[in-house]
Amino acid sequence: MDIEDSSILLGSDQIFEVYEIASASNSAYKIIFKSGNSSLYKPASGEQPLWDFSAGTLMYRELVAYHLYSFLGVKVPATKIWENGPVGPGVIQDWVAVSDDEEDILKITLSDKDLGDEWLGSFVGIDQTGESVKLWHKDLPQLRRIAFADLIMNNADRKASHVLQSNSNFYAIDHGLCFHSEDKIRTIFWGWGDEMFSQQEMQLLSKLDSYLQNFQLLKYLNSEEVVSLRERVKYFQDLGRFSNVPNHRSALPWPIY
Ligand SMILES: Nc1ncnc2c1ncn2[C@@H]1O[C@H](COP(=O)(O)OP(=O)(O)OP(=O)(O)O)[C@@H](O)[C@H]1O
Ligand SMILES: [Mg+2]
Repeated sequence: MDIEDSSILLGSDQIFEVYEIASASNSAYKIIFKSGNSSLYKPASGEQPLWDFSAGTLMYRELVAYHLYSFLGVKVPATKIWENGPVGPGVIQDWVAVSDDEEDILKITLSDKDLGDEWLGSFVGIDQTGESVKLWHKDLPQLRRIAFADLIMNNADRKASHVLQSNSNFYAIDHGLCFHSEDKIRTIFWGWGDEMFSQQEMQLLSKLDSYLQNFQLLKYLNSEEVVSLRERVKYFQDLGRFSNVPNHRSALPWPIY
């Protein structure tokens, strides 16, 4: 399978307007095409250097993540590599028109507060003022599926702003920091820690195992990353449950929003 043949629209469309997304830590642009379609474009040349991920590899991670998260039933905007992007090769992705009435999916409260059944308390810590606080996230099936897939992809950057809401759907974005061969998961979604996987989740893991056999992963990830991805699938099949917050390292992205 050649995963560069994804169905994303680009074809003969021409650029109409380009806006830089000022808040992004790497260069990111919203591109509006003459057809009226919009895309997100993140050129490899605009990546901030990282000590733990090799320069120029984030776009490949995003591409593989798009296919694997989608395979696991997570909504991810269609993504491909744009070799001839305006400032060089990069990731191009369908633009998600975010709803005006996005619901809060993350909250911080004093640690003795209870937010009720719709929320899962996931983390207790001390804030800047020395107060004991608790981190909560919504308990929703689409978020659980994102959390499940993040474990397999070893996502080091699942913050609240990496979940976009549109028409009652939750879209997972920004998967540039996935697939490291060392354990790096950092997420706000620890609320399912230790919970057994459902039958459907277990089936997805076994289907993913077969799916990966036919995927030319070495085109996009290094050999250690490919081995560790396969090992993670097996590990979670054996574990049969969500892993819990690691206690030997930071397990939250920064910032969390
Ligand atoms: N497909 C998309 N559709 C709509 N908006 C998007 C899309 N992808 C990214 N964005 C917006 O652009 C912002 C930056 O994108 P992204 O998180 O991928 O880049 P980044 O360099 O990691 O930025 P940050 O440091 O904010 O995480 C996102 O927080 C989001 O608001
Ligand atoms: Mg980001």
